[in-house]
Amino acid sequence: MKKISVEELSLNPMTLIANEWMLITAGDEKGYNTMTASWGHLGSIWGKHSFGMPTSVCYVRPQRYTKQFIDRETLYTLTFFPKEFHDKLMYLGSHSGRDEDKVAKMELTPVFGDGYTYFEEASLTLVCRKVYQAPLIEEGFVDKSIVESHYKTKDFHDMYIGEIVEVFVKE
Ligand SMILES: Cc1cc2nc3c(=O)[nH]c(=O)nc-3n(C[C@H](O)[C@H](O)[C@H](O)COP(=O)(O)O)c2cc1C
Repeated sequence: MKKISVEELSLNPMTLIANEWMLITAGDEKGYNTMTASWGHLGSIWGKHSFGMPTSVCYVRPQRYTKQFIDRETLYTLTFFPKEFHDKLMYLGSHSGRDEDKVAKMELTPVFGDGYTYFEEASLTLVCRKVYQAPLIEEGFVDKSIVESHYKTKDFHDMYIGEIVEVFVKE
């Protein structure tokens, strides 16, 4: 893995997250969990740097086991994989770490950093520092049809904004 700066990143966040998906992983060698996500954003906000604080946004439903790990940790990672890993990401997004060691089953190799975990097989890893967390609220939906289509049981996602503090790419 090679460390690069966010400025060196060249990607399309729309297709990267929506089509290629990502793993959200939190925890360390003492215990971690991961899940697949296809909703999220990459951009900037709050102007710590001249171009704004480089940030990711992701959305996690309350029932995800991974959420407990994200909530108790300062850092979490977003990892992206080559196309041939789609089946594995599908598995990791349809089985819970509560029930099995799904990472071992998918033969992914965890790499432990200082307070975070990523995967050796990932082509891109973003290490994020949690800076904002809040649930989406029903009153916030201008388009109320989304509540009906996505939140029939009112299990609104928590939104996490994370400062991107490290970027690793596979060499
Ligand atoms: C393609 C795909 C995208 C997903 N995107 C999200 C997402 O953005 N947010 C979310 O909360 N769950 C999402 N999920 C569902 C979780 O990945 C899934 O519930 C997972 O099994 C949770 O694992 P855990 O209980 O070990 O945390 C997605 C699943 C798939 C297959």
